[in-house]
Amino acid sequence: MTRRRNPGELSMAAIKERVFSGVQPTGNLHLGNYLGAIKRFVDLQTKYDCIYCVVDLHAITVWQEPDELTKNIREVTAAFIACGIDPKRHIVFNQSQVAEHAELAWIFSCVARMGWLNRMTQFKEKAGKDRENASVGLYAYPALMAADILVYRATHVPVGDDQKQHLELARDIAQKFNNDFAAQIAKLGLGQVFFPLTEPLISGPATRVMSLRDGTKKMSKSDASDYSRINLTDGADEIAQKVRKARTDPEPLPSDEEALARRPEADNLVGIFAALADRPKTAVLAEYGGAQFARFKDALTELAVEKLGPIGAEMKRLVQDPKHIDSILVDGASRARKLAAETMKHVKDIVGFVRD
Ligand code: AMP
Ligand code: TRP
Repeated sequence: MTRRRNPGELSMAAIKERVFSGVQPTGNLHLGNYLGAIKRFVDLQTKYDCIYCVVDLHAITVWQEPDELTKNIREVTAAFIACGIDPKRHIVFNQSQVAEHAELAWIFSCVARMGWLNRMTQFKEKAGKDRENASVGLYAYPALMAADILVYRATHVPVGDDQKQHLELARDIAQKFNNDFAAQIAKLGLGQVFFPLTEPLISGPATRVMSLRDGTKKMSKSDASDYSRINLTDGADEIAQKVRKARTDPEPLPSDEEALARRPEADNLVGIFAALADRPKTAVLAEYGGAQFARFKDALTELAVEKLGPIGAEMKRLVQDPKHIDSILVDGASRARKLAAETMKHVKDIVGFVRD
């Protein structure tokens, strides 16, 4: 029996497999960013060509102090490298150095429909009640995100669970572009579809790390309480204190996943443990099921300090040398620009612009 293929697959043979992802330079990189995203970026390097971007154009959709922004761009870059991303074999750069992102984003703003953007839950959350006062950029953000990915015709995008809706929108934009311009794409001999329907990579035990203070809220850079998150630069004492104070319930740990699912705080800590240890949650439950939280928290602290300690120390070392970090970003941007410029030439031909 032949499987029905989705339209993006038709010319996938012609489109090279490539990973793209981005992290906003908005301060307080935390365990959720690490387990949901950066750790997975590191793992994908052996199988794919990867492009990892510090998305500064996204950051300014809400106000950023200029000096803080500069510092945060360097800090995310340092985190990428400290976690094990190799900027020589892959590409690491900051978004604003490759103008093609913004250029393609404009074209995508003309492809995406208002109705699609109106459904975006992240915009609703970030804009809050005072929607009239939100920036136009915050609303148009998903079109820029689609451009980030598709300007490299990336096929795989590792992200945390909160980005799922944005990636679906990126697929919708790719599909509408491919359909709207199908005749032109064929006429130019560019295959049957130009943009791939990007595959989100959202899996594992920590796609949504929750706040340590409230098991129903996502761990977030902007939470007012520093006790809600473990920052990548936290030292051993801070990690120990935050884990000790993490909210739990009075029962010992359950032994099976079904019972765990009904206990959000326990589920979160077990998920964090599993992701840090590279083990499935069931294996963690097999070892700690029936244990009191105090014992489990001691083991979690030890594991977190072992895994995060060297990363934080390396980040602190790297940010001491901003010139070195900037040179990595400049080098990455020049390599990214070549790939992006190639795509933009085709896009301009497809749309019908006149160019050199
Ligand atoms: P951001 O800081 O919003 O740019 O997020 C960078 C990456 O971290 C994205 O792939 C997010 O989905 C991921 N991420 C952010 N917060 C969490 C969290 N609490 N749990 C898992 N992944 C997260
Ligand atoms: N929107 C993502 C976030 O807030 C960051 C991002 C921007 C991104 N462009 C991207 C992630 C492209 C993956 C691919 O976390």
